[in-house]
Amino acid sequence: MKAVIIKAFGAPDGLSVVDLPKPVPGPTEVLIAVDAIGVGGVDALIRNGSLAGWGFTEGLVPGSEVAGTVESVGREVDESWIGRRVWGFTGLGGGYADHATAEIDHVVPLPDDLSAADAVTLGSSGVVAHFALEHVHFQPDESVLVRGAAGSIGILSVQLAARRGASAVAVTTSSAKRGEQLRRLGAIHVLDRSGAGDGPPAYDVIVDVVAGPDLPTYFGKLKPNGRLVVVGIVGGQPPADFGTTLMAAFRSSLTFSTFSADTVPAEQRRTVRAEQFAAAARGELPTVVHEQLALDDAVVAHQKIDAGEVFGRIVLIP
Ligand SMILES: NC(=O)c1ccc[n+]([C@@H]2O[C@H](COP(=O)([O-])OP(=O)(O)OC[C@H]3O[C@@H](n4cnc5c(N)ncnc54)[C@H](OP(=O)(O)O)[C@@H]3O)[C@@H](O)[C@H]2O)c1
Repeated sequence: MKAVIIKAFGAPDGLSVVDLPKPVPGPTEVLIAVDAIGVGGVDALIRNGSLAGWGFTEGLVPGSEVAGTVESVGREVDESWIGRRVWGFTGLGGGYADHATAEIDHVVPLPDDLSAADAVTLGSSGVVAHFALEHVHFQPDESVLVRGAAGSIGILSVQLAARRGASAVAVTTSSAKRGEQLRRLGAIHVLDRSGAGDGPPAYDVIVDVVAGPDLPTYFGKLKPNGRLVVVGIVGGQPPADFGTTLMAAFRSSLTFSTFSADTVPAEQRRTVRAEQFAAAARGELPTVVHEQLALDDAVVAHQKIDAGEVFGRIVLIP
């Protein structure tokens, strides 16, 4: 089968198209003939070696979400899955290929009206956005700021906060054009990356995809009892002493938390994914596909991510 591996950590041209044996599904897995592969911001972090300490090694086939048709199943999986169109989470890697395996617990059937490209735009990010809002006990009528809103997790956070009745949704982003795109998806206020702009001075909830050196300044944008949740680190690690700023605001009863979808039981993730796929198929949750590229062009996809050009998701087509 055709696959892309990380031949060498570093620049995008360290990705290489290779021929590999088709994987054999384990007892609780399915083998998916892939129609579309989601390229996440995290893939760039894995490729450049930032996450090397987390078990990612050179030689890995990157990619964690695919959509396609089940071709075969492991011995403990019901054969009725064969031939079904599905979305699948492939784990730490294995997605950048024309065939991929996924644990059946992390496979969700697709509605007929939802394309494979739309599914991989929504599948992972929608669940992160949904459960991150749950994690900070977001309530309708509360105000939400999404930091790093132009990626797929940020866009879904904006869409879901707006759908769930936020009193105000604000975003940080790097250009007026992106601000306009985000307004069409539910944002009311647009701030620059430093947090300057037309929004209210403070929010009940901040969903932060960025972290990085500026994280502590955002504690100053929380209302009393406000909650900030870090869901990504596209701006790097926060300063080691960020807790000092949090403690200085002690009398505001602020909450800082991190959130990983890994802590959500698989059954809950499946349920929410299926609901979001259905909403997207009905046209109620528009997906934002930045561009579709051939699997052979994985290097180009990563160059675009590194250049900061991507709004939403890049999708690779085998
Ligand atoms: N919590 C979980 O369960 C989970 C699951 C999967 C992935 N992740 C994490 O989520 C992150 C990727 O999310 P994504 O794919 O949605 O993001 P993304 O597309 O990589 O980036 C989101 C946006 O952040 C802004 N940004 C980038 N660098 C920045 C910087 N230095 N300072 C300020 N803003 C910056 C950019 O928008 P502008 O240029 O418009 O500002 C960019 O479009 C990774 O850190 C990954 O590890 C978390």
